[in-house]
Amino acid sequence: MLPLENSEDIHSSVKTYYGKVLTSSKDLKTSACTAAAAPHSIVRKAIESVPKAVNDKFYGCGNPIPLGIKGKDILDLGSGSGRDCYVASALVGPEGSVTGIDMTDEQLQIARDSIGEFEQTLGYTPKLKFVTGYIEELQKAGIEPSTIDVCISNCVINLSPNKKLVLEGVHQALRKGGELYFSDMYADARLPESVRKNDVLIGEGIGGALYVKDFEQMAKEIGFAHPRVLSISPIAIKDKELQALVANTRYYSITYRLFKTDEHKATKRTGFTARYLGTIEGHEDKYELDIDNVFDKDVSTLVSRSTAAILSSSWLSGFFAVEETPNSASGLAALPSTAKTLINHLRRLEQQSSNASGGCCSTGGAQGGCC
Ligand SMILES: C[S@@+](CC[C@H](N)C(=O)[O-])C[C@H]1O[C@@H](n2cnc3c(N)ncnc32)[C@H](O)[C@@H]1O
Repeated sequence: MLPLENSEDIHSSVKTYYGKVLTSSKDLKTSACTAAAAPHSIVRKAIESVPKAVNDKFYGCGNPIPLGIKGKDILDLGSGSGRDCYVASALVGPEGSVTGIDMTDEQLQIARDSIGEFEQTLGYTPKLKFVTGYIEELQKAGIEPSTIDVCISNCVINLSPNKKLVLEGVHQALRKGGELYFSDMYADARLPESVRKNDVLIGEGIGGALYVKDFEQMAKEIGFAHPRVLSISPIAIKDKELQALVANTRYYSITYRLFKTDEHKATKRTGFTARYLGTIEGHEDKYELDIDNVFDKDVSTLVSRSTAAILSSSWLSGFFAVEETPNSASGLAALPSTAKTLINHLRRLEQQSSNASGGCCSTGGAQGGCC
């Protein structure tokens, strides 16, 4: 991992790519932007309210905007032309706030220029701002520690030459119980230098994609709770030359959830149940915390300690009732699947469907679908 002072080449290559080379979403050479399943109808409606100039320069690879964030303080890493910030701004309402941070002036200009138009659509002045800066240096850009409830990011962290600095900065910026909810590009293996040093592959996110196992290990070392995978879809590389360069490596768009919560300090024999109250607008019947943990409204479910900690002490705590169940073995309930396990599962499905010619190539619980 490069320290920031040695990463200027990558920063400047990425700035050129997003500021000067790409003119609109259509110029991307991978299907990362289309790999993700359709957003929730509430998010779709919010996207329709976003000014056209902003939507036209959307370069994300997922839908990292959770529902239930009314009144929350949101930070978007690598906000680009600002689409996700505008959507989040509509969802947090007049009491919440949204800050986007990006290093590319051309992108920031589009994001800032459309706030007036958006204000007219909303009918109130949103607390929405865009700051210039590096996502590796959040504090330098004015993001104070413990001020953010939910940090989102859409296809950006893979572009950073120092992902550890980014995650450490986010951990510091989040309030206790806060969350990094983000979509990004990952590889199923460590990447060779020929891929990591190719400018187009870096710009498209392929060159900097982290091996899923390394990423999850890094997140835990920084202090986040066990990483949750919310959705995972394969990314197709359309360009023949790029296909040859990446050879057998497979890439995935993954939406991860990293919570800043501590594990429950219960005794070994204590278990937990969680009951979803059905109070998040848009998720009235059920709530999907991750691929393995989907809660039906008003049904008590045994959960692991890590899940109990998330549901009782994160920003989601108001939406759940969590109870200790003494003398139960549920405290030992399995942790949710790692991305590597899910990738292996996808590969098996792919194999089966190619044997049977045709089938599903994506997983993601309620948010997944066929591509
Ligand atoms: C793939 S685009 C995604 C933009 C936006 N999130 C979206 O969904 O449209 C990547 C953006 O991240 C920004 N970016 C990349 N690396 C960055 C860094 N180290 N610090 C700040 N911004 C960065 C780029 O300038 C670009 O606008």
